[in-house]
Amino acid sequence: MFALQLLLIVALVAAAQAFVAPRMGSVRSGSKMMMAQNGPTFSELLEKNEDWATSIASADPSYFPQLATGQAPRYLWIGCSDSRVPAEMLTQCDPGMIFVTRNIANQACATDTSFLSVLEYAVDYLGVEDIIVCGHYECGGVKAASGSDLLGDLENWLVHLRSMLAVNQATLDLIEDADEKHRKAVDFNVEAQCLKLWANPIIQNHAAKNGKAPRIHGLAFDIKSGRLNKVFYDMAKLPFFSGAGAEKKGLSKLMGSISK
Ligand code: CO
Repeated sequence: MFALQLLLIVALVAAAQAFVAPRMGSVRSGSKMMMAQNGPTFSELLEKNEDWATSIASADPSYFPQLATGQAPRYLWIGCSDSRVPAEMLTQCDPGMIFVTRNIANQACATDTSFLSVLEYAVDYLGVEDIIVCGHYECGGVKAASGSDLLGDLENWLVHLRSMLAVNQATLDLIEDADEKHRKAVDFNVEAQCLKLWANPIIQNHAAKNGKAPRIHGLAFDIKSGRLNKVFYDMAKLPFFSGAGAEKKGLSKLMGSISK
């Protein structure tokens, strides 16, 4: 009788593990991953795609064929890779509306060839009207760069953030509350990336050749509320550099085309 009970318990535990494991993932002790993993299993993920495609196509059979004819998104979105900041979902935008690039802590790094390719294609070929730099509070990249621990190969990326934070250290030191200090660091990062975008030769050359440039907007997503906060910086006061044909087109007129 005891053996039967033991067998039953073992079977129940095994069944429970089989049920929980694929849904929750595992908490790897001793690693950097502290939370159980979220998300469907891979096969469930494919099923979700099938359901999504089927429901849209059944409502509008022309939707996907039309989507396949080309893209003309209004926005370029430069965001953080963080899984909690999905550009289309939090703005209720559909496929075809936002051209997206994401990296750790939403950097507009002028030596990142992936980023530069995205920027050039978005500005010169797609002709996006607006560029959004979207940071977010609770950003692991900004938190890592705010700390004093050296993080191996990640430092090659964090170097951009560390130098940006160092420039603003005096202001950050005046803020006592840790959460408020972090939020200000995130805002400083967004502002810094907007300025890097403005100075980027792809933007400057586009303005010089075309007499206009995309508007640059700085935003910070507040995960605790789901809201996008504007990070104010008066981009309109920044001039464009002179370039081929720029003087004929009137640089002063261009100065107002970049705005918040
Ligand atoms: Co982040």
